[in-house]
Amino acid sequence: MRYLTFALAKGRLAKSAMDILEHVGITCEEMKDPDTRKLIFTNEEQHVRFFLAKPSDVPTYVEYGAADIGIVGKDTLLEEKRALYEVYDLGIGRCRMCVAGPKQAAEKLQHHELIRVASKYPNIAKDYFYNKKHQTVEIIKLNGSVELAPIVGLAEVIVDIVETGTTLKENGLEVLEEIVPLSARIVVNQVSMKMENERIMTLIRDIRQYQESQNA
Ligand code: PRP
Repeated sequence: MRYLTFALAKGRLAKSAMDILEHVGITCEEMKDPDTRKLIFTNEEQHVRFFLAKPSDVPTYVEYGAADIGIVGKDTLLEEKRALYEVYDLGIGRCRMCVAGPKQAAEKLQHHELIRVASKYPNIAKDYFYNKKHQTVEIIKLNGSVELAPIVGLAEVIVDIVETGTTLKENGLEVLEEIVPLSARIVVNQVSMKMENERIMTLIRDIRQYQESQNA
């Protein structure tokens, strides 16, 4: 039997994803060691391997077939636009991609002014402003703590993830427009989907059944 390789987005999602996999019988003991510096973990009996990667790299590993299956947020999928199959919505890590800023910036969104938009997600921001709102904006790519941008005058608004809304609130900002709801997805390499169809579909079915039993 061939090894099935899973790429998991490092961070908040990975632990919840591993918990779900464990409930459907896919386990990896050596991954639980918090001090390990290993990058890839194998379960010889089940012929599965796992690795953790930066979220934005997960779709890349899956597109090229270095991983058969990826677990990653919809935000990353929309931003990276890789050729792969999105097969299942795990429903975990639910949040929203939003345009946010100080209250007074709302007006600038209505009058199609040429404003600056800071984001870790320049493709999502561009698609939203250019294709949906037909508003010409200047997009500034940042790598984190994006909420700083409107506070220090780098941009009028931001495009960012809002989960509880606490970060915005504590910085005097608010949601101005909602772009899209987000959650973690299972993605599959296009060739793996054909070659390993039965194993992959069984896995998805088991996860769905497990989640339905949890919600019942
Ligand atoms: C994310 C996001 C917001 C925050 C939203 O940042 O970019 O800043 O979480 O969560 P909240 O609505 O519950 O406050 P993350 O912690 O991933 O770090 P980053 O700022 O470096 O992107």
